Amino acid sequence: PLVLHVLGARPNFVKAAPVVRALGELGVRQGIVHTGQHYDALMSDVFFADLGLPEPVANLGVGSGTHAKQTAALLVGLEEVVLEHAPDLVVVYGDVNSTLAAILVCAKLGVRTAHVEAGLRSFDRGMPEEVNRIVTDSLSDLLFATSPDALSHLAAEGVPAAKVHLVGNPMIDSLFAALPSLDPAPVVARLGAPERYAVATLHRPANVDSPEAAAELVSAVLEVSRQIPLIVPIHPRGRTRLAEAGLVDGPSVQVVDPLGYVDFLSLVRGAALVVTDSGGVQEETTMLGVPCLTVRPNTERPVTITHGTNRLVTPALLPAAAEKALADGASTPSGELPPLWDGAAGPRIARVISAWLRGDNLSP
Ligand code: UD1
Ligand code: UDP
Repeated sequence: PLVLHVLGARPNFVKAAPVVRALGELGVRQGIVHTGQHYDALMSDVFFADLGLPEPVANLGVGSGTHAKQTAALLVGLEEVVLEHAPDLVVVYGDVNSTLAAILVCAKLGVRTAHVEAGLRSFDRGMPEEVNRIVTDSLSDLLFATSPDALSHLAAEGVPAAKVHLVGNPMIDSLFAALPSLDPAPVVARLGAPERYAVATLHRPANVDSPEAAAELVSAVLEVSRQIPLIVPIHPRGRTRLAEAGLVDGPSVQVVDPLGYVDFLSLVRGAALVVTDSGGVQEETTMLGVPCLTVRPNTERPVTITHGTNRLVTPALLPAAAEKALADGASTPSGELPPLWDGAAGPRIARVISAWLRGDNLSP
């Protein structure tokens, strides 16, 4: 049997690496399809290198566009590649447009699918990702959940429990694997940053797409930079808008290109505080015990609040929350981590997939 992994955007690569490795160890034949949703070297190639992902068997080069144009290009490209390779299972990750398109294509072609990171819900359909999550979960044949709250969301939406497996978090597997090489010193030295610093990453459309939202966010972020020097590896989505709103290099702000996986997590590991609107970064700071302020009205990852160091803040509340977080200091990662965030999610997923593929072949 053949398994294809459809990957398109930065967080997909991080989630897939442990699954690909573990399936490889079980001898399963597999290939990666890169949709090309992310294409800059610092948004894509660097992750293949840092995470040891194999070369894709196809790169569709769909690039950027409106939701309709990007999704349309993804559908056309993925249909061709799925027909050509005739996989027995297609594995999709997270909640990006590449995930949604792959699930739709496979559902229409009658190709079976697995969704890694199923059941997360922000209950905010204004987020494009929430729409992608709901559709993806409703069409998947196998659903791999990273946290227990996901199970009740899926049950409430009528997904049969037999399809769902609580396996832990493969993004945390990648973090575990990288841990020995996470050293802040070289990246801090390369950036000429001070020893004590905070890191900010911001790219949610609700924060960076409109000049009004960007202005409110930037003024809050600049206030934080008056408390502690701030390093901002900038996602291409927010680059122009946030710069126009005043997020530029200054005495206490350093705006840099997106960082590779190991460099970024090294920087986070050494940070006194992280300010973010990323999904994955909420989880990684939970694991590393670094205080995290998430500038969003909601999160699909509530375990990062109940078990981790994460707090939701509005831009207006960010400066005061930063002051408090800096005063409180780091918390030690403890036995309180979410269940199964233990570095072994990839092997669990691989075992389920491989058993499922065997069962499939035996059935008439
Ligand atoms: C996508 C995901 C989002 C995820 C994020 C991870 C969707 C709907 N959104 O958002 O859930 O959190 O990836 O980083 O799938 N761009 C470049 N170079 C690139 C890629 C993008 O310059 O390599 C710029 C383009 O101007 C593009 C914009 O970023 O229009 C947005 O890219 P897109 O992939 O559409 O969405 P993201 O905001 O990256
Ligand atoms: N990340 C990175 N370099 C950066 C910013 C983020 O390597 O400059 C990593 C981060 O550690 C995490 C993943 O990218 O593993 C998260 O991606 P992103 O925040 O773009 O997407 P989201 O999780 O919000 O969907």
